[in-house]
Amino acid sequence: MGTLDVARVVLALEEHDVAEEVMHFLDRSGRARVVAMAGDDRQLAEAVRQLEPDAVVAQPGLVRPGALNGSALIAIETRETVGALRAAIAAGARGFFVWPAERELLVGATAAAATASEPGAKRAFVVAVWGPRGGSGATFVATHLAAAFARGKRECVLVDADPSYADVTAALGAFPEGEGPAPRTIADLAPLEEELDAARLDEVLWTHPDGFRVLLAPEAPMAGIVGPRLLRRAIDEAARSADVVLTHLPRTIDEGMRVCVEPADRVLLVLSLDVLSFRAGRRALEQMPEAALDIVVNRAARAEVTPSDVVRVFGREPIAVLPSDARVTRAQDHGRLVPARSRLGRAFDRLASRLVEEDQG
Ligand SMILES: Nc1ncnc2c1ncn2[C@@H]1O[C@H](COP(=O)(O)OP(=O)(O)OP(=O)(O)O)[C@@H](O)[C@H]1O
Ligand SMILES: [Mg+2]
Repeated sequence: MGTLDVARVVLALEEHDVAEEVMHFLDRSGRARVVAMAGDDRQLAEAVRQLEPDAVVAQPGLVRPGALNGSALIAIETRETVGALRAAIAAGARGFFVWPAERELLVGATAAAATASEPGAKRAFVVAVWGPRGGSGATFVATHLAAAFARGKRECVLVDADPSYADVTAALGAFPEGEGPAPRTIADLAPLEEELDAARLDEVLWTHPDGFRVLLAPEAPMAGIVGPRLLRRAIDEAARSADVVLTHLPRTIDEGMRVCVEPADRVLLVLSLDVLSFRAGRRALEQMPEAALDIVVNRAARAEVTPSDVVRVFGREPIAVLPSDARVTRAQDHGRLVPARSRLGRAFDRLASRLVEEDQG
């Protein structure tokens, strides 16, 4: 990992013991380095002025107006209170994290501050695909959208961020060829977590015949070694070289899932037209009010619930309505994608273009 990746941080917390813990954790992550500690608002303003850090990790109450001097603020507290949240928003914080519960997220947000300020660093368009209701088609959408981006001449990396089930492997037929070795997976990166760079990531990506690359999830016995930090490192690294990074999220809202949502420019909420899917979507929104969500209606057919209900319930038009097609399950069961020249294939081409337009506009 080049030194450019490491965020220079000024840390400001009133409680010395907590400050020490946070400092050690950030330093050990290899992705951030604490260059100064401040115990009050005056010390903080002074340290920022002198050191011009990438990020200020601070209790929002310690940040005086104007004290940030262009550095990114990452708010931290040991308890989540309405007052602290308000202060964080007022101070313009990029994120608010509870210590120690959300420490991996804290590292991710802090490291991202360095990447953002690094001149010339490419940052891919990052799209997360999420099906809060099981079976709504998250795996189907993620895999077909990756192919649509590839058709649109965009270099796309699909990351299977659901190590427990690794459905992308089956949906794409990413199995060994003949007697050949099994494709490599994100688990192969675990020992290199701290030194992960473009070349190491490149070595483990599996290339789909349609021209996109995939960071596969491992076999079941290895699923446990794919933690939130590794997932986040892989996404960030992929975003440095690709045009588009697509993440295939697990259904559960846990830390591993949240670290993948955080860097996403858009989150596609895949819903089918039924009451439980809508209910899951509502619950998802309530738990992630900060995410930039677009709704994709999948398996649309004649039903009691219609796409216009999306507008009524979610207050926004779906970004895509994908028809139900009996060929989908057959294709998926054989590790194949539905042909590009089909109604569904074209619907994915339109979705990919719309997303790119949103990104550019
Ligand atoms: N547009 C569609 N038309 C017909 N069948 C579909 C469509 N989309 C998905 N399916 C089928 O529905 C099932 C669920 O799809 P998929 O596995 O993509 O959903 P998921 O949200 O990833 O599910 P899980 O919660 O199990 O991960 C599969 O059998 C798939 O082939
Ligand atoms: Mg799935």
